[in-house]
Amino acid sequence: MSEIVVDGEPLPFVEGQTVAAALVAAGRVAWRTTRVGRRPRGVFCGIGVCFDCLVTLDGARGQRACLVPARPGMTVTTEEGDDE
Ligand code: FES
Repeated sequence: MSEIVVDGEPLPFVEGQTVAAALVAAGRVAWRTTRVGRRPRGVFCGIGVCFDCLVTLDGARGQRACLVPARPGMTVTTEEGDDE
């Protein structure tokens, strides 16, 4: 099983999973907060429409975790207070 690195911690994933699928499979339901009210967000639509699942992937902010396949060694940084 391969691993991505989420906020500095290794997280295993199955080939073919998106970043969001890997996070949900690990029990995470939220990985960012909204700018207003700091409300938790994770996967909502799962098809790239709602932008609730934004994360920073390999330094690129505002990426939709539900659309990007996990790759070995990919760094995932959760986002605080973003409404992008
Ligand atoms: S969950 Fe809606 S865009 Fe990713």
